[in-house]
Amino acid sequence: MLELKNISKTFFPGTQNERKALENIQLHLKKGDFVTIIGGNGAGKSTLFNVIAGSLQPDQGGIFLDGKNITFLPDYKRARRIGRLFQDPLRGTAPNMTIEENLALAYMRGSRHKFSIGISKKEIALFQEHLARLGLGLENRMKMKMGLLSGGQRQAVTLLMATIVTPQLLLLDEHTAALDPATANQVAALTQQIVAEHQITTMMITHNMKQSLSCGNRTIMMDEGRIILDISGQERAGKTVKDLLEMFQTKQKKEFDNDRILLSDDGAA
Ligand SMILES: Nc1ncnc2c1ncn2[C@@H]1O[C@H](COP(=O)(O)OP(=O)(O)OP(=O)(O)O)[C@@H](O)[C@H]1O
Ligand SMILES: [Mg+2]
Repeated sequence: MLELKNISKTFFPGTQNERKALENIQLHLKKGDFVTIIGGNGAGKSTLFNVIAGSLQPDQGGIFLDGKNITFLPDYKRARRIGRLFQDPLRGTAPNMTIEENLALAYMRGSRHKFSIGISKKEIALFQEHLARLGLGLENRMKMKMGLLSGGQRQAVTLLMATIVTPQLLLLDEHTAALDPATANQVAALTQQIVAEHQITTMMITHNMKQSLSCGNRTIMMDEGRIILDISGQERAGKTVKDLLEMFQTKQKKEFDNDRILLSDDGAA
């Protein structure tokens, strides 16, 4: 369903600051795949998402979504097919608009009708039902401004916004990393629930190595702009964080370096 063919991206080419962020990335995702992505600082994970979402143009290569070549499709045209969440809960929502209005905007994005007169009763009921399923009591606070919500509440609503019209692909860039551990677990559980319910093809960057093995059906490791490990099925089952770190070391002949991963309690445990 998603096919990346030979994608490369270099920042500041030909200068002292040249950075090869992506090098000949080949990746094929099957429909319903839930891929977790792990890698050191600057490995190219977010750049990969930028290229898939269309925020960045690759220097070479092609991107195909359900067989359609989207390599040159601008990001706003991809937004209907590709949902995206960032680490920062402030991104992706309008803080001065209410929860209801934010959801209405997200809902409208999925329709071909560019203009709509207010929010219908039917839509309110739909939003209410979806919000109730988050289990955060937000269904009774739909007129509240988004900016007043806590980081976790906001990330949960953002997740809902990204999936209220089922996207073809969902990109999660460490979307729980800025939350306290309990809230992070709650948002992670909601993510798994929503993804499973709608069988959404998903890519999730995480700095939590345990989570990279426990979530989804496939784990990819990146380093220096390349995919250096891609495991699923039998090969992935039963793997531990220690195994992952050893595989990295064997393959790359160096220690894994991502302070956030190695210093976090749950990351390298
Ligand atoms: N817009 C940009 N302009 C210039 N260089 C960039 C840009 N975006 C990323 N880079 C560089 O490309 C490389 C890959 O960065 P990227 O953000 O994709 O890493 P990452 O794997 O997401 O790392 P992290 O775990 O720290 O988020 C880094 O060397 C980074 O400095
Ligand atoms: Mg990143």
